[in-house]
Amino acid sequence: MQQGEIAIEMNGITKIYPDGVIALRDVDLIVKKGEIHGLLGENGAGKTTLMRILYGEIKPSKGTIRIFGKKVRFRGPWDAMREGIGMVYQHFSLIPSFTVLENLVLSLSSTVKVTINQVKKKAETIIEKVGLNVPLNTRVELLDVGVQQRVEILKALMRDAKILVLDEPTSVLTPTEVDEFLEMLRKLKEMGITVIFITHKLREAKLITDSITILRRGRAVGVVETNKVDEAELAKMMIGRKIALEIPKKREGPMTGNVVLKVENLQVRDDKGLVAVKGVSLTLREGEILGLAGIQGNGQRELIEAIVGCRPVEKGNVIFMGENVTGMSPSEIYRKGLAYIPDSRAVGLVLDMDIVSNSILTRLKNFLGKGGRIMWSKAHSFSSKIVNEFEVLTDSLKTPVKYLSGGNQQRLLVGREVAQRPKVIIAAEPTHGLDVAATEYIRSLLAKLRDEGTAILLVSTDLDEILQLSDRIAVIYEGEIMAIGRPEEFTTERLGLLMGGVKCQTKN
Ligand SMILES: Nc1ncnc2c1ncn2[C@@H]1O[C@H](COP(=O)(O)OP(=O)(O)OP(=O)(O)O)[C@@H](O)[C@H]1O
Ligand SMILES: [Mg+2]
Repeated sequence: MQQGEIAIEMNGITKIYPDGVIALRDVDLIVKKGEIHGLLGENGAGKTTLMRILYGEIKPSKGTIRIFGKKVRFRGPWDAMREGIGMVYQHFSLIPSFTVLENLVLSLSSTVKVTINQVKKKAETIIEKVGLNVPLNTRVELLDVGVQQRVEILKALMRDAKILVLDEPTSVLTPTEVDEFLEMLRKLKEMGITVIFITHKLREAKLITDSITILRRGRAVGVVETNKVDEAELAKMMIGRKIALEIPKKREGPMTGNVVLKVENLQVRDDKGLVAVKGVSLTLREGEILGLAGIQGNGQRELIEAIVGCRPVEKGNVIFMGENVTGMSPSEIYRKGLAYIPDSRAVGLVLDMDIVSNSILTRLKNFLGKGGRIMWSKAHSFSSKIVNEFEVLTDSLKTPVKYLSGGNQQRLLVGREVAQRPKVIIAAEPTHGLDVAATEYIRSLLAKLRDEGTAILLVSTDLDEILQLSDRIAVIYEGEIMAIGRPEEFTTERLGLLMGGVKCQTKN
């Protein structure tokens, strides 16, 4: 094969982290120029680690890297950028109070001398060419995650990236945004840019990639041409066995359990001071999962934050187990038996703290002894129970949570809340970032808890998840409930229309 046809050649990459974790063993990765290459693997398989090595952010313990045929040894991301590599992480690195343009200037001026006008011109050209749809003069904090992500991609393209690494880019996107995103990847490919695409969504991998490398527990276990495999085969290669995608059974007949959570006419403002929840009323019964479907940014976050006490309620009431808890603090409400899984791990976990501390974070009072001291041995055994039950991959409970893979952080977060056997769980995107097996695990766990009588408000932008789990579905659009009904009353199309604000002519 001619030199230059291969964009990336990583050979024999081994990575042993300082704490002894062997994240990668003798991994080869070969990516052809101009292709979209998928990187698949379970949580903790080593995908992010491999890409951080490619990006010069961490050094391999062993192995060599060639970029466009040239052997390289990166001392840091700047070296990698110089060779044309750009990376967009699961978490963004933008300055919220700066405009998009200011962020671009900042990131570029660390390597070359530029004027604002030059940056603006170049950005506009790229935006036009790729169809990126990014407002240059808006402050980043006012942008939805989907747009922030495009800013990150723009940032990489501004540095003339020829290779773009995208780590689970679609996990923060809504279904329509995902389609637009895949369209953008096609454009990048047409421009000759080589893309590495990490995802847990086999459908996406199948749709967009040309070839795929599969990692399992730190080893590359296969390289396939995408059009020669189906999703089931990919899943099997990832996990090493066939997985039965078991759908938990839903309840038959009307809901008869006691009402445990009642939201009456709730009005709540968002961070910008706008009314984001406009008179929402909902009831949740023992033993039911109420799915709240909606496109991100339609008031779901404000609604649940108001329910759990992290956001002021402007009007209306939250009644929990018959008691009016409106305006109470989260810890008071938690103590009454409410659990909350926020949609962001950065909110739910303190990433610099270790696993034990994070395990007791939301129920600290339960772990305080005489004189207000933390009973560490009790905390330790609780934490170890979560780690075992939810299979959080780690060597030590003392590991800072930031060193866990994304999916393992999510397991810890969900595990901590569920392990308390709460009466009501508010779960926002509970399977966000989880691999296929872990997703099924969490979903069947939620269904099991429901069968045992727990009431669950499931907020999800994933329609499959909503349809699979919910006993009743409510659709929220621009802060209002568009419809509530049993799943069989909704088709995917109807849900899609309602989520976009279109009411259909069916009685409900
Ligand atoms: N900085 C670190 N120090 C120690 N161990 C780490 C560090 N970063 C990752 N690990 C460990 O290395 C392994 C691979 O993690 P990595 O983040 O690469 O997985 P991943 O495939 O990206 O998983 P996910 O799908 O959950 O994002 C995991 O066991 C993880 O706990
Ligand atoms: Mg990862």
